[in-house]
Amino acid sequence: MWLGWLSVAVVLAARATATEQPSWAYSPPYYPSPWASGQGEWEDAYDKARTFVSQLTLTEKVNLTTGVGWMEEACVGQVGAIPRMGFRSLCMQDGPLGIRFADYVTAFPAGINVGATWSKDLAYLRGRAMGAEQRDKGVDVQLGPAIGPLGRSPDGGRNWEGFGPDPVLSGNLVSQTIKGIQDVGVIACVKHFIANEQERFRQAPEARGYGFNISESSSSNVDDVTMHELYLWPFADAVRAGVGAVMCSYNQINNSYGCSNSYTQNKLLKGELGFQGFIMSDWQAHHSGVGDALAGLDMSMPGDTLFLTGRSYWGPNLTIAVTNGTIPQWRVDDMAVRIMAAYYKVHRDRSQVPINFNSWTRNEFGYLHAGVQEGYGRVNEKINVRGRHAVVARKVASASTVLLKNNGVLPLNGKEDFTAIVGEDAGPNLWGPNSCPDRGCANGTLAMGWGSGTADFPYLVTPAQAIESEIALKGVGNVMSVFDNYATSQIKSVVSQSTVSLVFVNAGSGEGYISVDGNEGDRKNLTLWKNGDELVETVASLCNNTIVVMHTAGPVLVDKWYDHPNVTAILWAGLPGQESGNALADVIYGRVNPGAKSPFTWGKTAEDYGVSILKAPNAGTKAPQVDFKEGIFIDYRRFDKMNTEPIYEFGFGLSYTTFAFSDIRIESLQAEPYAPTEGYTTPAPNFGNSSDELQFPSGFSQVRLYIYPWLNSTNLKEASMDPEYGLPTEEYVPPGATDGRSQPLLAAGGGPGGNPGLYEELFKVSVTITNTGKKTGDEVPQLYVSLGGPNDAKVVLRGFDRITLRPGQSTVWRTSLTRRDISNWDPVAQNWVVTAHPKTVYVGNSSRNLLLSAPLTSSSARL
Ligand code: BGC
Ligand code: BGC
Repeated sequence: MWLGWLSVAVVLAARATATEQPSWAYSPPYYPSPWASGQGEWEDAYDKARTFVSQLTLTEKVNLTTGVGWMEEACVGQVGAIPRMGFRSLCMQDGPLGIRFADYVTAFPAGINVGATWSKDLAYLRGRAMGAEQRDKGVDVQLGPAIGPLGRSPDGGRNWEGFGPDPVLSGNLVSQTIKGIQDVGVIACVKHFIANEQERFRQAPEARGYGFNISESSSSNVDDVTMHELYLWPFADAVRAGVGAVMCSYNQINNSYGCSNSYTQNKLLKGELGFQGFIMSDWQAHHSGVGDALAGLDMSMPGDTLFLTGRSYWGPNLTIAVTNGTIPQWRVDDMAVRIMAAYYKVHRDRSQVPINFNSWTRNEFGYLHAGVQEGYGRVNEKINVRGRHAVVARKVASASTVLLKNNGVLPLNGKEDFTAIVGEDAGPNLWGPNSCPDRGCANGTLAMGWGSGTADFPYLVTPAQAIESEIALKGVGNVMSVFDNYATSQIKSVVSQSTVSLVFVNAGSGEGYISVDGNEGDRKNLTLWKNGDELVETVASLCNNTIVVMHTAGPVLVDKWYDHPNVTAILWAGLPGQESGNALADVIYGRVNPGAKSPFTWGKTAEDYGVSILKAPNAGTKAPQVDFKEGIFIDYRRFDKMNTEPIYEFGFGLSYTTFAFSDIRIESLQAEPYAPTEGYTTPAPNFGNSSDELQFPSGFSQVRLYIYPWLNSTNLKEASMDPEYGLPTEEYVPPGATDGRSQPLLAAGGGPGGNPGLYEELFKVSVTITNTGKKTGDEVPQLYVSLGGPNDAKVVLRGFDRITLRPGQSTVWRTSLTRRDISNWDPVAQNWVVTAHPKTVYVGNSSRNLLLSAPLTSSSARL
């Protein structure tokens, strides 16, 4: 039985190569959409939400579910208000690293930097600080953090918004970020669900803009094992952390759109993971009215079909569909209750302040409805919400700076005779740090990627600024900066005089609607930008103490120069946000001892990664098929499997001190046997039955192109403006989709994040770690497991912590392994299973420096 999934996986793989469109690229239907149970820590919130929703009329419930249209209100997305209940419209605002489209906010380091800290505490602190800023601007839902893309391909444009390509690193850090945001009274929205791993083809209209003649968005074709063991894993952690909202993605999954997909939404997210919050669509990712409602979507964003069409799949059409019985009332009640439960769970009823900014202008006065230029007034109160968050931003930035190479030259003391600073990436954007909309350019130092996951800088401390002041303050050495990468003779002249040269290089990426120098969101290659390799080589050829600093959105190829004898140190600073220069100076001058570890692998070639984004359509004008043929083998799993030597491995990073690992101990715990969840749900509950007028109230003055829940006719067909109105429901309502009777529970479900037995601890592991050097520093013990099966990765990360030790100090690091940690997904049983293959635990300080190991004895693993 335990071996069952292996043989299935082999059959699937064989089929996949036999046909052009693999048969597994099909998303099975799963209906009805699970109504929330209000389980666990959601109980109180559900009591309140049910009480609230029970008092609402149909159009008021619909108003909670549907956005009012693009740029029709202050936030990047807003639903309708319920004035009768004194309930104002909910505000959704980007993004994963701070507040987009606002002033007097903090531009935090990107998610990928949080990944590099390997620090749960810092993830929490940054989440808390971001949440507090959103709260104080009046935001209800922060559109972040991002864990999709996870980082399947190194060139994926939005990888930097998340925490890196390992599901366990990602899962731990996303949980802490969510807790931070929600603890201060804002709903977190984890995104993008799911397998949203490339920008190219994510939306057909956007792709057509780049000259690709396709009619549908690409399909990410993922097998069941890979879905569970890789992409769904961090979402399970997010649900377990109590996340209030999930954003469904633009792409299709196995040829069904993210927000229309009953398998991913109904089965995986709401069924198996027991998600109690609400699913909102990505902007314009909503593709059908009745279909998406039955497939589990709870909120349509931004509400109109396409931006500013004035029409909606929901709004009046949802009112109609419930009224004529196509969508059962329980489904719309469930949407409303889920939304309100998230609201109460994070105590929005106590923490909400008026929305006091406006996404569409930084001026104080402007249009209330910017999309249609209606209403004029004071729209931006310019409230400074930063508090002391610069401290958090700086701390995360320095703690995420990875020291990849150090021939003993770092730290510097600031009294060097002659410091040369070379490279555009050390200096300012000559147009100003916020000059390019959504950071869509590559001028000056790179401190974030581009797209909706950005924030305006309140200031941006450049590396040159910080280093020059450091040296000037000491008043001893010379410092000269050259910011033009192509000023070769000037560079040579300065570098020839220098005793130490700091060369700055970068490579960015971002969201698909902006192209920077031919990088249409995704990177077009993995090389450094703006002559970066040549720049390093020029400097290294003239200065025997060349220190390279990189600001990049992900791995770049460093093979040309990383082992050059004159390249004495290499630092990766990621995308560090507003405190870039200060944080870098902290590390370079030794105020902060680097403790970061690379959150991804640095390969010698792009091919070594085994995957890249799909570049050309491969299904004619139909949906491009992105086959995730590599399965779970991305990043270090792939390098390990192929025995490919990377330049710097996942989890690697140096310190100014050294550490020793000793004495691994494993203790098996008394655990209950794993019990598949059994039983049935309650029947679908209805909340409230207040009937109301479905037509627009008389004399109501409408904002142009605004989405309202009301109808403009008493004739439903006329009101729907749908030429196909009246089509027999069999033609578009899937079997079972409206069935509100009690339903069987899923064996792998039963609690937040899945079957509670998965989170039961089976083993305790401890290791002694000693600082054997002369400086206080941080080490990141990393626990990996070999699951032992022929289709398993050599090792997978399962635990980590970041700990600080004084010189000579020892500590016992304790961690544990849950049942999930040692299980595989069995697609036949549709459950997790601990296989009989021998399993081993490793502890070390990178994915390839596995210093200690011990077997997990099967007798102790209670299956
Ligand atoms: C992005 C989302 C973002 C939304 C709202 C979309 O284009 O994919 O991540 O939250 O826009 O700005
Ligand atoms: C009707 C459909 C219509 C939908 C949205 C349903 O109730 O049966 O024909 O497309 O409402 O207007």
